[in-house]
Amino acid sequence: MTAWDEIRRDFPATERSVFLNAASGSPMPRPVSEAVAGYLREASEGDEWLAWLERQERAREGVARLIGAEADEIAFVVNTSTAMNLIADLLAGDGAVLSDELEFPTVTLPWIHRGVAVHFVPAVEGVLHLESFAAADAPRAATICISHVQFSNGCRQDLDAFGALKEHRRLVVCGSQSVGAFPVDVKRSRIDAFATAGYKWLCAGYGTGFAYVSRELLQRPPRAIGWRSVERPLDYNNREYTLLASARRYEMGCPAFASAIALGAAVEYLMGIGIEAIAQRVLELNAYLTGLLEQAGLAVLSPGGAHRSGETLVELTDPRGACRGLRERGIHVTRKPEGVRISTHFYNNEQDIDRCVSALREVAASA
Ligand SMILES: Cc1ncc(COP(=O)(O)O)c(C=O)c1O
Repeated sequence: MTAWDEIRRDFPATERSVFLNAASGSPMPRPVSEAVAGYLREASEGDEWLAWLERQERAREGVARLIGAEADEIAFVVNTSTAMNLIADLLAGDGAVLSDELEFPTVTLPWIHRGVAVHFVPAVEGVLHLESFAAADAPRAATICISHVQFSNGCRQDLDAFGALKEHRRLVVCGSQSVGAFPVDVKRSRIDAFATAGYKWLCAGYGTGFAYVSRELLQRPPRAIGWRSVERPLDYNNREYTLLASARRYEMGCPAFASAIALGAAVEYLMGIGIEAIAQRVLELNAYLTGLLEQAGLAVLSPGGAHRSGETLVELTDPRGACRGLRERGIHVTRKPEGVRISTHFYNNEQDIDRCVSALREVAASA
C-alpha cells in the first residue's frame, strides 16, 4: 500500500463513491470530522468558551502558516463571498479593478455592486496571459483582482509573477480553487488581500473560509464592526471604542467555533501531508486523467503546461445527460455548459479516474 492509499483511508466518502468534485466541495477527512464532533460534544455538555477561543487562535496560526502570513492578518469567514466583500469594502474607493473574463462571479460582482469599474482581460483559448495584466498594456486600475486557479477550466496563474508585475496596484487573490492543493505565499507574491472558502481543496467542510488582509491594509477602517471588533469588548462601552489592530475585527461578534475548529484541523492535516507533496499528487492524477481522456477521443478544454491545475473541463454534447449517467454509476463531477468538470485531489486514485473515463466513454457513446 502506498502512502497515498493510506491517506485515502482517512476519507470514508471514497469507499462509497468516486468523488472527483473537489472544485465544488470535498468530503471531510476523519481528523476534521472528529475535531468538529469533539466540539459539538463539548457544546452539548457545557460551555468551554476559553478552551474554544484558544483552539480558534491555534487554527488562526495554522492558517497563517499555510499562506505565509501573520496570525493577526487572518479573519475567519463562512465563505469566499464574505471575504471578497470585506476586501472590496477596503479597496473600492481606490478606483478601477483589473480582472478577467474567466472569473467566478464572487470575484467581480462585489466591486461592480459598489460602483467600481471592472476591466475584464480576455482569455486566449482558455488561457489568461500574464502580459495582459502588465501596467503598460492593461487598462488603468488601482487593483488587480484574480483567482489563483479558475473555477471552470482550471487555468492556474503564477502568483509570484503577478506580484512582480503589479507595480503600484493592489493585488487581491481568490484562492478558493487553489489553497489546499497548491502552495500560496502571500508575502513572497506581494498579495495585499486574499479570500478563500475552506470546503473545496482545504477539505474543511461547508461554512469555512478565511480572509487575509495585509498589515498595511489593516490601517484602513473597516466598513462593518461589532462588539468584538474592539479592544476590551468586555467593557461593554456602547459609546466609544478603539478598533482591534488585528483582522479579528472583521469577525465582529461571537465566533463560529465549529467552522474555525474544522478549518484548523483541516490545515493541520494537510500540512502534515505537505502542500508541495499534495500539489505534485494533484498534478500527477490530473495528467493521468487528461492522458486517458485524450486516448478516449474526448476533448480537454483546460490548459496544460504551467497552467494545469486539479481541474479538467471535458467537452461533451449533452452535459446534463452525462452528469446524470455518471451519478447513476456513483461518480461525482460538476456539470458545466461545455461539458463536465472533473477534479483530482490527493484522496483520489488512478482507479477513480479509470472508472470515470470508462463511464464517460459509455455515456458519450449513448448520447
Ligand atoms: C473562484 C471561486 N470563488 C468562490 C467560489 C464560491 O464562493 P462562496 O465560497 O462564497 O460560495 C467558487 C465556487 O465555485 C469559486 O470557484
